[in-house]
Amino acid sequence: PVKKRVGDLLSRMTLDEKIGQMTQAERAALATQDDIAAYELGSLLSGGGSNPAPNTPEAWADMIDGFQLRAQQTRLQIPLIYGVDAVHGHNNVVGATVFPHNTGLGAARDPELVEEAAHVTAAEVRATGVPWNFSPCLCVSRDERWGRAYEAFSEDPALVTRLATAVEGYQGDADGSDLGDADRVLATAKHYVGDGGTEYGSSTTGTYTIDQGVTRTTEKELAAVHIAPFTEAVDKGVGTVMPSFSSVDFIGDGEGPVKMHAHADLITGVLKKKLGFDGFVISDWQAIDQIPGDYASDVRTSVNAGLDMIMVPYDYKTFTSTLREQVESGAVPMSRIDDAVARILTKKFQLGLFEKPYADRTHLDDVGSAQHRKTAREAAADSQVLLKNDGGLLPLKGDEKLYVAGSNADDLGNQAGGWTISWQGGSGDITEGTTILDGIRQVAPDASVTFSEDASAPTDGHQAGVVVVGETPYAEGVGDVGNGHDLELSEADRKAIDTVCGAMDCAVLVVSGRPQIVTDQLGDIDALVASWLPGSEGAGVADTLFGERPFTGRLPVSWPRSAEQVPVNVGDEEYAPLYPYGWGLRTDSARDRLDDVRDDLLDRRRDGASRAAAVHLGLALKRSNFGADGSVRNADAVLKSLSRAAALLEKSRTDTYLQADEVVSVARDIAQAALLKAGDRAPARAVARTADADHALASGEYATAVRRLAEAHR
Ligand code: IFM
Repeated sequence: PVKKRVGDLLSRMTLDEKIGQMTQAERAALATQDDIAAYELGSLLSGGGSNPAPNTPEAWADMIDGFQLRAQQTRLQIPLIYGVDAVHGHNNVVGATVFPHNTGLGAARDPELVEEAAHVTAAEVRATGVPWNFSPCLCVSRDERWGRAYEAFSEDPALVTRLATAVEGYQGDADGSDLGDADRVLATAKHYVGDGGTEYGSSTTGTYTIDQGVTRTTEKELAAVHIAPFTEAVDKGVGTVMPSFSSVDFIGDGEGPVKMHAHADLITGVLKKKLGFDGFVISDWQAIDQIPGDYASDVRTSVNAGLDMIMVPYDYKTFTSTLREQVESGAVPMSRIDDAVARILTKKFQLGLFEKPYADRTHLDDVGSAQHRKTAREAAADSQVLLKNDGGLLPLKGDEKLYVAGSNADDLGNQAGGWTISWQGGSGDITEGTTILDGIRQVAPDASVTFSEDASAPTDGHQAGVVVVGETPYAEGVGDVGNGHDLELSEADRKAIDTVCGAMDCAVLVVSGRPQIVTDQLGDIDALVASWLPGSEGAGVADTLFGERPFTGRLPVSWPRSAEQVPVNVGDEEYAPLYPYGWGLRTDSARDRLDDVRDDLLDRRRDGASRAAAVHLGLALKRSNFGADGSVRNADAVLKSLSRAAALLEKSRTDTYLQADEVVSVARDIAQAALLKAGDRAPARAVARTADADHALASGEYATAVRRLAEAHR
């Protein structure tokens, strides 16, 4: 029926009405709201920080309803589709739940958690009258100097692909049948393609080109590294795709860099034809202006390349008249316009906008609800990666005299990062939630806590210190790079670490969107945690500090030794980062985890492979004593049993990936414990093998993963 309705509507539309559907303006750029009807605008957006005042859920619903009312005054009453960037929760609205940024979710490595976070976000976004979210970012970040590295789940395409479950969380079923529900929104897979692969620092103008720069690659590599997650998103029915600001330069084709917004081969040829993407392509902000040539050529080239809707966002008048001229002159075929409009209308029908153009206000109270915050708190906890834990300092007992310090211990804005209330994010922008310091006080009420941001209060008499350091927020652009912050900690942060860690046992938490260089301080630090950008629920971080939830996260990106070592990625030759991809100590017991997996598998009565795997796990459990640090006696024999179990699970015809994951993860801990013991003497090859294993794991190659770990152990 949707197809029929689209065909019928399209047949009644004038060229101006069609072009209007392809136009997206920024809500604050409207000269007057009457322009919505005058230009038949199909869509509006709030760019980052373009919020109504007061910035409440109700005000959002009122604002969008007001725009929708204008759309209802047009001849065909086609509803608007309103879009926002809710990239880690409904990060635009005061009081909404804010999740960890993608890099933290990548550390949690849990496809179901990512789906759930997206589902909660969808519910909060839709509750405020917004049916469309420019998320998830499925970029594969290959260079942490890129200012959007924190929006990537990982440097590993296999892990990013696995976490494309965000699409299901936003949209529900792949056939689009859930899109009309009150807790779903249309998703956007972005930025297609190669945004995370751009080259660093080749500009002569003094500005770094790594954001919106050039990805120099081969067709094969582009497909394997950057297109793979989009293939998965298309399979999951993603409704829209946003091209990248960056260019792709295929090595050796003699063509030079081609802007993605002009890339007909990759947009129409690969995305639409080869992958079968049947949603619509929305441009990035004013991105067509960056295509070489005059404005008419920008419009013609981008629409002919396969863009269906253009985020103009200010120039809606010029855009609509220019596109009309291009169609009238035959430079843009009418068939291209009809295809674009049909794609857009299809999504509007699936979202139920024709039946219900206005906000359904029954769920406004769900925005920032206790239940949603609980999910975000768990996500924050599961994203914590314990990089070092000398003497088992963590988890803390909770009744210590604690000294808490550092720039990011008590700053909601810093811990939430970019895209939070304002576009770039910042201290004071987000007002509701718990800082990490609040969390420490909540989770450990029996601890006596001294807080001194710059560590200037006397340090004596304390049993342990917690120093929370890291970055200040940024959104697009190059992050802090170029502003003297090249992944290095600030002087104040280094001083806080030196003071506290020089005086007592101390845990250092790094709150940042990407690894920071800590190599020089490492010797003084007893426990080191990558906390990423945990969002509004700092209590989740505290949960892991005090053992309310175990540390289970693993590095989604390699952690460099020095700024000069970047870029460093799993699979590189001579791979020797400070901590390899996949590294992460666990504070739960390996024995218990294996026991649980074995029980799970034994329950699968009719699955022979699972039961056989359970037997091997039984052998592994019998063969060794598991130490608290993850070390085992008879590691080789245990790894052999785990390897057999993994091979069986890989072949099993039932869904056993969670169990297989856990088996590999225990094997990982065994190899990791050996590396820890070897310390600096650990051969780089062994370190690389553990990282390779995690890559294999993310690709579902469980047996290979355990084999690599056995090699690392040897
Ligand atoms: O969706 C974003 C994109 O990721 C970066 N440029 C602006 C768009 C809309 O806000």
